[in-house]
Amino acid sequence: MSQRAQVQDRAAGGGREPFRAMWDTLLPIGRDPDGAGWVRYGFSPADLACRDWFTEQATARRLSVETDRNGNLFAWWGDPAAGDAVVTGSHFDSVPHGGAYDGPLGIVSGLLALDLLRQRGAEPRRPVAVAAFAEEEGSRFGVACLGSRLLTGALDPDTARGLTDSDGLTLAAAITGAGHDPEALGADPQRLARIGAFVELHIEQGRALADLDAPVGVASAIWPHGRWRLDITGEGNHAGTTRMADRRDPMLTAAYAVLAANKEARLRGGHATVGRIEVTPNATNAVPAAVSAWVDARAPDDDTLAGLVEAIRVRAAERAGRDGTSATMTAESLTPVVEFDTGLRDRLAALLGGAPVLPTGAGHDAGVMSAHVPTAMLFVRNPTGVSHAPAEAASDADCAAGVVALADVLQDLAC
Ligand code: GLV
Ligand code: MN
Ligand code: MN
Repeated sequence: MSQRAQVQDRAAGGGREPFRAMWDTLLPIGRDPDGAGWVRYGFSPADLACRDWFTEQATARRLSVETDRNGNLFAWWGDPAAGDAVVTGSHFDSVPHGGAYDGPLGIVSGLLALDLLRQRGAEPRRPVAVAAFAEEEGSRFGVACLGSRLLTGALDPDTARGLTDSDGLTLAAAITGAGHDPEALGADPQRLARIGAFVELHIEQGRALADLDAPVGVASAIWPHGRWRLDITGEGNHAGTTRMADRRDPMLTAAYAVLAANKEARLRGGHATVGRIEVTPNATNAVPAAVSAWVDARAPDDDTLAGLVEAIRVRAAERAGRDGTSATMTAESLTPVVEFDTGLRDRLAALLGGAPVLPTGAGHDAGVMSAHVPTAMLFVRNPTGVSHAPAEAASDADCAAGVVALADVLQDLAC
């Protein structure tokens, strides 16, 4: 029997029930009552309830829980001060009306993997921890991987404190409300230096593993990606009385830019999405005065991404010239390509019986960590291939296989 089949077999033999039992305790938190997925914005009541859940689960396992200066949680098995720790984990927060698995699966799997290691009688020679990173999706404050970026110094704490949510509440105010000190935010080199390896398990955000008939895969790289805000201004006016020829309508420029982004991405083998738009004044019977559209763009390499974004900017500006509007594009975040540690990646793929090695277009805390710590990712098969939407899925058997794979990896690295 291949190692991959053995992993599946062992998971099927006993891992599904523990997975389902723990999963069911987390699932109600932040679930939309009308069935439209999960809404768990960073530091919202739902996120805080998830964090309480984490503390309860960790405490029940006699793991010591610490919150770092940036609101990231760590549950430790062993003494963190010993250094060279092996850390796994992911995030609880979601996109608006997202799926259940993006983020929480990595945390639940981490806790269950530690259970499995203990059942195996494993005795780690390195400290092991499960982490829950803060505000990974950036759905509330606009910057993805906020907790890991602050921890690693990739995000300036003054900038972070001033970020606002859609109600105008600053991050500083939100974390104060959640019981954290905003003045403490910032790079934490000592805590980072204690981590010797980081492994994030994540639901796959595509169908590659389903096509390969494999429950678990290993990440090779993360595409470079970023977010740009396209601000278009025109002239607000009456929808009924303003002649078509007299309008300076920013919605036309926005509509053209959305189509251009799609076309330019297709031409370059990249991805470009406008999933968020704000219209001023947002009235049915008014030509808008201004439109802001957020462009999420990703590509296989940094140069292709730069070319894609520039092409969108140029085409929006050309169209603005024809519409009598003005368009400016501002970068809100940019993450260069991430190539995961090749030694670790190959070691994990071999350990997991030749698990498939795949790139991903999605950003992760693992990508941020990888600039500082040898980092790897495991993916669990998602038969729908859907992510950032309620149809995201994984079978309990595959989730259990993911737990076994993660336990094997942690045991290999830490014991
Ligand atoms: C996070 O999931 C992202 O890729 O935006
Ligand atoms: Mn996500
Ligand atoms: Mn995620």
